[in-house]
Amino acid sequence: MKAILVSEFTPNPSILRPSFIPTPTPQADHLLVRITHCSPQHADILHAQGKHQNNNTKRGWCFPPFVLGYDFAGVVQTNTTKGGLKKGDRVFGAAIGAFAEFICVRPDAVRKVPDELSNETACAMSGQAVSYASVVNIAKVTSGETVMVSGASGGLGSVCCMVAKALGARVVALAGDEEKAEAMRRDMDVDLVLVMQDDWIKGVMDFTTGEGVDVVLDNTGMVNDALRCLAYFGRIVILGFAARKGVMEDVKMNKLLLKSATLIGYRFGESGRREPDSLQRIWTGYLAMMKTGQLKPMLYGEYRGLESVGRALKALAERKVYGKIVVKVADVHEVAKL
Ligand SMILES: NC(=O)c1ccc[n+]([C@@H]2O[C@H](COP(=O)([O-])OP(=O)(O)OC[C@H]3O[C@@H](n4cnc5c(N)ncnc54)[C@H](OP(=O)(O)O)[C@@H]3O)[C@@H](O)[C@H]2O)c1
Repeated sequence: MKAILVSEFTPNPSILRPSFIPTPTPQADHLLVRITHCSPQHADILHAQGKHQNNNTKRGWCFPPFVLGYDFAGVVQTNTTKGGLKKGDRVFGAAIGAFAEFICVRPDAVRKVPDELSNETACAMSGQAVSYASVVNIAKVTSGETVMVSGASGGLGSVCCMVAKALGARVVALAGDEEKAEAMRRDMDVDLVLVMQDDWIKGVMDFTTGEGVDVVLDNTGMVNDALRCLAYFGRIVILGFAARKGVMEDVKMNKLLLKSATLIGYRFGESGRREPDSLQRIWTGYLAMMKTGQLKPMLYGEYRGLESVGRALKALAERKVYGKIVVKVADVHEVAKL
């Protein structure tokens, strides 16, 4: 099969091209899935560079040679009843090795694609149940509240914006530069897009008539700025540190006290492992919003074939992407509309 094989860590993953390797044979408790779509993300760049925590020699599992990629959708090839799945079922999920024509996974690494959804949509949205959970379960956003999202163009941020809008909130989306902000104003259903430069915090305060925002969903690591924009009794959810380059910020605790602010960290994967029932409810709620069309993927560019993965990684590294890149790896017969 064709696959993006990392035979050694590389500083520039955009040069990676597919090579031919043996199609994997599933162990007894695994499924073979033919991949129809995969979705490159920033973590894939770090994996290929050897800079991700998953490359840690003590606790990690990503060491060359390995097949790159994480989020995918595909079709089960194995005759099985494991995980309530059968041969021919369309599935989506996440596992190292997704930039390939086939992958072997444990049944609990995938979910069935609902009939209403296409494999492309499922693949684009597979990594963002965290966004749904952070808005609905963690921040508990309600209709009429004002929600600010950092890294709003990103995979997580864009879905945070969509979920908050679906709940009836007013959404302020933060962007890195004016070119991206223009695209976001055109393509995203949000109330205000601000570029984080000059006096952007004044823009937030003007928009909220001096009150500040009720909720900040922070994907980039900007708690100090979030506190400046926050209303009294406001909530900040820490989701990620995309802008911090590994250097964490110091936060003055008196700023939290002065605004009676709530600061919550949220680690989706570990939360799901500790609270499987809650995870199931999150997925049910998230997929329900997708099935009714309240959440639709924002797809960036057109990418066909594993040959285009390098181009996708380049666009991600250059911060050109808004929404999600989905690479079409193979055709799938489906009648799904969304
Ligand atoms: N809490 C959890 O359970 C969980 C789960 C998955 C991921 N995460 C983390 O959440 C964060 C967002 O993930 P994502 O998948 O949405 O990432 P993404 O698609 O790469 O988006 C990140 C956004 O952050 C902004 N950004 C600002 N400075 C950046 C920089 N120096 N490099 C790259 N992007 C920068 C970018 O927007 P502009 O260019 O417009 O600034 C970009 O759109 C990451 O830190 C990720 O590790 C957390």
